[in-house]
Amino acid sequence: MTQTAQAKILVFDSGVGGLSILQALQQALPACEYIYASDNGAFPYGTKSAAFLIERVHNVLQALIEKKQPDLIVVACNTASTLVLPRIRQHFSIPIVGVVPAIKPAARQSKTKVIGLLGTPGTVDRPYTQELINEFASDCEVIRVGSTELVTLAEQFLRGGTVPSETLRRILKPLFDKQQLDTIVLACTHFPLIKKQLINASPRPFNWVDSGDAIARRVSSLLQHQLSAKLPCKGGQNTAIFTLPKNDIDLLQNTLQELSLTHIDYIHLPGAN
Ligand code: DGL
Repeated sequence: MTQTAQAKILVFDSGVGGLSILQALQQALPACEYIYASDNGAFPYGTKSAAFLIERVHNVLQALIEKKQPDLIVVACNTASTLVLPRIRQHFSIPIVGVVPAIKPAARQSKTKVIGLLGTPGTVDRPYTQELINEFASDCEVIRVGSTELVTLAEQFLRGGTVPSETLRRILKPLFDKQQLDTIVLACTHFPLIKKQLINASPRPFNWVDSGDAIARRVSSLLQHQLSAKLPCKGGQNTAIFTLPKNDIDLLQNTLQELSLTHIDYIHLPGAN
């Protein structure tokens, strides 16, 4: 096994959304050690203020780095990445990969040049997201839908809940009603987890674009080109870490085990709920 294969990767999100990114990472880099961290104590992020999130994500990452000493961090959350990357990259020396809306590939792939942007209320309104649109989709009409309800549905689905098609059709109505729209960006890491249900609820086929594979390629390339010489050999067990002990974590057990997250742990943060 090479040293690259034994990197310890921390994947971070407010809730279970980052598991969609973890899936893509595990497919590309199956031998790495993964720590999945959910800030369930401050979930959901999509409705929180910028000032709160910048402080919060900084503090959670600080505690996670102290506890687990990862080689690389993936902020598997569009809501956080579109806001906090400059601050945390300035503060922490570990390589940090952010997940931001896949507007560039969506704009390239769209034939009609009308695309949907489905994210949290925070993400779809961010100046960073507007900059992505200006830079990569200036030839497109972009219809935005920000929904926390969809995030909650994905959380419930991973705990055994159902995702009613009528609810999805109500939330996505502005996108479904736009006749020329051919491409939808899943700009929240929770949404690929319910992609099958989204497809089933759709009135016609769409091109659904998410960031999972691009992030896996980016992480692979960083490990190969920048980090391989520096990595110690680790190879510990995969762990899921939460910021708040809650009963509903038990309901996630099957999902966590499917992703080889066999150990559950907690960090305690000042200021958590
Ligand atoms: N999964 C997160 C994202 O990609 C946000 C979910 C939340 O609102 O907490 O934006």
